Amino acid sequence: EKGGFDSFMDKEIHDQPHAVADTLLGRTDAAGRLVLDDLRIDESVLRAVNKIIVVACGTAAYSGHVAKYAIEHWCRIPVEVELAHEFRYRDPIVDERTLVVAVTQSGETMDTLMAVRHAREQGAKVVSIVNTHGSTIPRESDAVLYTHAGPEIAVASTKAFLAQITAAYLLGLYLAQLRGNKFPDEIAALLDDLRDMPRKIQTVIERGEYVRATARSMSSSDKVLFLGRHVGFPVALEGALKLKELAYIHAEGFAAGELKHGPIALIDEGQPVFVVVPSPRGRDSLHSKVVSNIQEIRARGARTLVIAEDGDDEVRDYADEVFWIPKAPTLLQPLLAVVPLQIFAMALATAKGLDVDQPRNLAKSVTVE
Ligand code: M6R
Repeated sequence: EKGGFDSFMDKEIHDQPHAVADTLLGRTDAAGRLVLDDLRIDESVLRAVNKIIVVACGTAAYSGHVAKYAIEHWCRIPVEVELAHEFRYRDPIVDERTLVVAVTQSGETMDTLMAVRHAREQGAKVVSIVNTHGSTIPRESDAVLYTHAGPEIAVASTKAFLAQITAAYLLGLYLAQLRGNKFPDEIAALLDDLRDMPRKIQTVIERGEYVRATARSMSSSDKVLFLGRHVGFPVALEGALKLKELAYIHAEGFAAGELKHGPIALIDEGQPVFVVVPSPRGRDSLHSKVVSNIQEIRARGARTLVIAEDGDDEVRDYADEVFWIPKAPTLLQPLLAVVPLQIFAMALATAKGLDVDQPRNLAKSVTVE
């Protein structure tokens, strides 16, 4: 059932182009307009929403961080992302105009379920983004947007993460369409970009051997840092979580802009640092900011492992290793940038002789608070 792969995780990484494609399937009508059938909330309620709060745990919460950048940009609705266990116990400000989005692979995470119940008691509408049909959280939500990643067996989430991000993009574009934030042709163009992503994810997977070889050469690392900016920041957090979970290595993700506010003190000779570089075609000089971050850490001895877009010649000079990913619009880049980090964590754990499907101390679904 591992389909010829050494582990479920390896298989599930390879399933990712399908997970994204299947999550996008059948979401438009004959006129090309987005229709989200599972979203059984009155359109007038969705038009009146003035705040979105994403509640989730672990990897699912990082997909919420990506969603925040996309939904705020497309819909101009403020989006907060909160760990479900923190949300529940801080007396959050939630009312009838708040849309709570619960993201969960299993649909059974107790912390997320408690957050859903709390939000509904306060009058909020809850949409859940869920992978497992027949699970508890969609039953207790007002509406559900299913991800179609298929069963995820490995404890470390991979394909569910990509499918969650995809579903969140769909939700964002749907709200933008409904509320008139975007012209139909702009939405159609963004959907075309999205439909192009499975092919590009496949390309990243096919380039995986170089990542694996790098990971094998780094199996004695005891601390690895991850930097990213904008949507690259949640990718950095996810890369660090994968490495902790699978390889039991102390790993931490930072917003690259935070470096000089503290974390740069951690850099010394040979310290491995992954950096997720935004597209050089993006706006707001994000790219040049991250390139100078790479220069700063390299000057202090860091070993820089850079994830960059094909054709980004500027990073080449400052990177010890570059993991190239295909060109994509900035907001969609996480679907590509996270893949080398997943492969890296899996290969490093394998090189250490660890069980990547069943890491110590962890359960696939956390059904206690
Ligand atoms: O089933 P859920 O998506 O609600 O699970 C949430 C987290 O427990 C989960 O993402 C966890 O962080 C994974 N082990 C990450 O790889």
